[in-house]
Amino acid sequence: MRIVLGVAGGIAAYKAALILRLLTESGHDVRVVPTRAALEFVGRATWEALSGHPVSTEVFEDVADVPHVRLGREAELVIVAPATADLLARATHGRADDLLTATLLTATCPVVMAPAMHTEMWQHAATRANVATLRERGVLVIEPDSGRLTGADTGPGRLPEPEAIVAAALAAVHTGGRRDLTGLRVTISAGGTREPLDPVRFLGNRSSGKQGVALARTALARGAEVTLVGANLTVPAPAGVALVSVESTAELREAMHTAAQRADVVVMAAAVADFRPAAHASHKIKKQPDGTVPPLELVQNPDILAELAATRSVPGQLVLGFAAETGDEHGDVLDHGRAKALRKGADLLAVNQVGVGVGFGTAENTVTLLDGSGIEVGGASGSKDTVAHAIWDVVADRMAQ
Ligand code: CTP
Repeated sequence: MRIVLGVAGGIAAYKAALILRLLTESGHDVRVVPTRAALEFVGRATWEALSGHPVSTEVFEDVADVPHVRLGREAELVIVAPATADLLARATHGRADDLLTATLLTATCPVVMAPAMHTEMWQHAATRANVATLRERGVLVIEPDSGRLTGADTGPGRLPEPEAIVAAALAAVHTGGRRDLTGLRVTISAGGTREPLDPVRFLGNRSSGKQGVALARTALARGAEVTLVGANLTVPAPAGVALVSVESTAELREAMHTAAQRADVVVMAAAVADFRPAAHASHKIKKQPDGTVPPLELVQNPDILAELAATRSVPGQLVLGFAAETGDEHGDVLDHGRAKALRKGADLLAVNQVGVGVGFGTAENTVTLLDGSGIEVGGASGSKDTVAHAIWDVVADRMAQ
């Protein structure tokens, strides 16, 4: 893919070198367009060596080549990282006073901006308004992380990690710039719950959280505001989601009920333990000298999906569940899925086949989408992002009705 990486003049410019490496290493052709100020932080030689292309900041360099028009027109993705307060302001006002802003004016592909600045600048009314305008125009502006800034100060304004920016940007391309979830508040649970036995042991499951994280990443790319309730995720949460980290089913249940009170779409992608130990020992359970094994008594957990489907406080809220199924002597994967769709009361149920090597922890997935009465309404096979997009296609359709 032909990518333009714009770099504005902030201390986080050094992290853009890592973004550049990630992109070129996965085979993309990247043209770096720094601003004059960016070169104060990281020099031209670094960008030229890492990208393998000459670098200019001005519209008046290489004029015969008309780079200010060509770069934008030819790009299939533009990433600006870091985007400073000044760059956001100039982009909002359609300025073309350097090669980067001129490129932004001619680009017709998805544009992803990752702001980084001091907290006061990020929270200033002028920056808020600029970000809102850019988002309205379809630019994916990633929320900055909170944390250590340039000096000893901390707060929102930190550039998200390079991997997270690259993942968000590539997801934006996948949607072709589609922003059909704009204005929707989406809450997604992901991962697998752990039921404590004692301070060091738990009962858990193999869920990695990849499918739920893919749903969160793609929903963000399509314009949604996303809350991710993550239970023991093995993959990083996408930049720009509001992350609530939980461990047990009880914690997940509370977090989901709270988040669902202000969600238009609720997705239960987490693998929730059906049973938990009846007792949670406050001390580590010891071996007995006589070799007796302690009994493991289990009690059933509440069905969070069924609860969420039954208690909706937001009008028109859509509730989507997953069904992890294996076929058995009573029926195949879809038979079990249909029965579950009816039982759970959710509006949509994404049915997938699981087992060691299929579904859990793997990169590929096959999902059939059923409506609340068990009728097939969609589906997809492929990467977890492909499956996620197929799910959002159906959700976007339903929410538009
Ligand atoms: N789920 C839930 N609370 C539970 C168990 C499951 O909210 N205590 C949700 C899952 O997040 C998923 C859906 O219910 O969206 C189906 O999960 P699954 O494990 O396939 O089904 P179970 O309800 O456990 O049913 P069964 O054990 O009969 O397969």
